[in-house]
Amino acid sequence: MKILTIIGARPQIIKAAAVSRAVKNLFPSQIEEKILHTGQHYDTNMSQVFFDELGIPQPDYNLGVGSGSHGSQTARMISGIEEVLLNNPFDGIILYGDTNSTLAGAVAASKIHIPVFHIEAGLRSFNMAMPEEVNRIVCDQLSSICFAPTQTAVGNLQREGFLDSPATFRDGRRRRVCNCGDVMYDNSMYFSTLARQHSTILQDLGLQPGQYILATIHRDNNTDDPMRLHAILHALADIAEHDNIRIVLPLHPRTRKILNATPALLPADQSKISIIPPAGFFDINMLEQNARLVMTDSGGVQKEAFFFEKPCVILRPETEWVEIVNHGAGIIADADYDRIITAYRQLIDHPVHFPHLFGDAHAAEKILQTILDY
Ligand code: UD1
Ligand code: UDP
Repeated sequence: MKILTIIGARPQIIKAAAVSRAVKNLFPSQIEEKILHTGQHYDTNMSQVFFDELGIPQPDYNLGVGSGSHGSQTARMISGIEEVLLNNPFDGIILYGDTNSTLAGAVAASKIHIPVFHIEAGLRSFNMAMPEEVNRIVCDQLSSICFAPTQTAVGNLQREGFLDSPATFRDGRRRRVCNCGDVMYDNSMYFSTLARQHSTILQDLGLQPGQYILATIHRDNNTDDPMRLHAILHALADIAEHDNIRIVLPLHPRTRKILNATPALLPADQSKISIIPPAGFFDINMLEQNARLVMTDSGGVQKEAFFFEKPCVILRPETEWVEIVNHGAGIIADADYDRIITAYRQLIDHPVHFPHLFGDAHAAEKILQTILDY
């Protein structure tokens, strides 16, 4: 089988590592994988660092679309992906998550009848103001196989009629839904030892295990709303000051751009906040493994905190990863100063449990076997 994997944004490059590794180690004679990078993320520390650290093959195609408005960026991707698909025979494409690169791949391939396999299908925030919610709903609808990472995701697809829909694709087949576990869990487990061997981030920043908070902020509703960004940053600074605890904040370029333009959003006293460039995967994995607690608006970092049994304050109005909240390991605090402080206190002062919820760390293998069977 010849498969095209489409990636573009940081989390997709990381997720693709798990599947590429499984192709190479488990299905080398059955699956030929080619990689297309849309170029949505392009800074070295948002893209190339992951190829270098995680052993992902270099992309066979790079569209180099760069940044832009949703419409123009997605349009450039659709047209570039279509050209590659029309000029090369592929039996299917693999897409990850919910970015504009995901949407573009789904639209381009489905219109020319190439089966779409969507990894991280079925997640819903039920917040249509999120660009990601739009992307994932469209992509699920266009997918031949929806690979759901959790039972909640399967339930969402069931509610939307995916399990008994009469819709068929040109090959006569109906959409399939498969609960395969989470490829991010595969990755975090696989790379945790390597991270301990290779990362020097704790020494570099002078951090003691268990004595710092890891924070990330990049969601558009937080970065593009000064009140929300101000509230989050001031809550972080006040927690750091009150509890005498360091905050490590690897800053996404989107957030960096806003703070460069409006430095007044930063707290006056940043002495306990280490703002660093986006971290490589070994460094972020090490920071997650050793944090006292995580505060984030990232989908991926929420889950990785859970994998490493760290409580998480979720800086969003809702989450797709509801299991984390339902088990008390995460608290939704939105970008509300008081709620962030209260959630932090609650999670620091009470024991938290982390049951196994995200599969058995063999999601990639299950996904590839299901694609081969299909
Ligand atoms: C995108 C995804 C989001 C995902 C995130 C992961 C969409 C709609 N959003 O958000 O779901 O959680 O990636 O990180 O697809 N920039 C750089 N260098 C880069 C990349 C981006 O400077 O290498 C800056 C540019 O100013 C750009 C901005 O970041 O305009 C936003 O980038 P973009 O890819 O549009 O969205 P993200 O916020 O990264
Ligand atoms: N990540 C990273 N460096 C960082 C912050 C995050 O490598 O400085 C990784 C993180 O470990 C996770 C993925 O990026 O695997 C999550 O991506 P991001 O937060 O950009 O997007 P989201 O998951 O919210 O779509």
